[in-house]
Amino acid sequence: MRVVFLGAPGVGKGTQADRIAAQTNQPKISTGDLLREAVKKQTALGLQAKSYMDRGALVPDEVVIGMVREKLGEPACAKGFILDGFPRTVAQAEALQRLLEDNRMTLDRVVNFAVPVGDIVKRLSGRRSCGKCQAVYHVDFAPPRVAEICDRCGAALVQRSDDKPDTVEARLRVYEEQTAPLIRYYQGKHLLADLDGSGSVEVVSGRLQRVLGPLM
Ligand code: AP5
Ligand code: ZN
Repeated sequence: MRVVFLGAPGVGKGTQADRIAAQTNQPKISTGDLLREAVKKQTALGLQAKSYMDRGALVPDEVVIGMVREKLGEPACAKGFILDGFPRTVAQAEALQRLLEDNRMTLDRVVNFAVPVGDIVKRLSGRRSCGKCQAVYHVDFAPPRVAEICDRCGAALVQRSDDKPDTVEARLRVYEEQTAPLIRYYQGKHLLADLDGSGSVEVVSGRLQRVLGPLM
């Protein structure tokens, strides 16, 4: 199954991608996670990306396209993958199409997550992530068993620096300007499936199963 999860910041793409990845044993490719890893390791790419991420802007297309090219070439992606947060611009979508053609692959579906903006702000302001394994929690909606400690690896939870209110506002604006046009782009290719991302993680997961079930 080759799918893309599309949607504004905080709609729950990463949370649902983790679940589908575990169910299908197919990798989640999150450009956000890959970039945060690079920032943490202070690689040349990470240092370049950090200034964009800190202000809620998109990292240049050629940087993220290069990262995805590398990932898609790995054997783990041969049977399928879940792309989370990529593509985010029309140029990235066109590059993805070329990358897939080079690997004799096609996309099965693009799931477009939609959540009211008030809920997005609540989800992002309460999000906590593991500084070590990148597991994601929410102080109210998905709390860890022990406050501020990762259930999976025991490391401390942190708040993402781009989840501060000003940066969230900038990310939402960038989404509207640069990423929302992909909804029409993929509608035009008959790949888009709209998903109501409101409600609990379980409720959304049930809806997603109905959309992706036939492909799993
Ligand atoms: P990225 O990490 O991709 O951030 P994003 O798209 O803004 O998405 P988020 O991770 O904020 O949200 P999500 O939809 O995954 O929600 P989540 O499941 O975590 O990108 C970060 C930055 O990297 C970008 O700003 C950009 O600079 C750069 N970047 C990344 N990709 C790029 C690209 N392709 N091109 C250029 N630049 C790129 O859920 C959010 C919270 O809500 C969590 O706390 C979760 O526990 C909770 N939650 C989830 N589902 C529910 C639910 N149903 N009910 C209640 N709470 C829920
Ligand atoms: Zn962890």
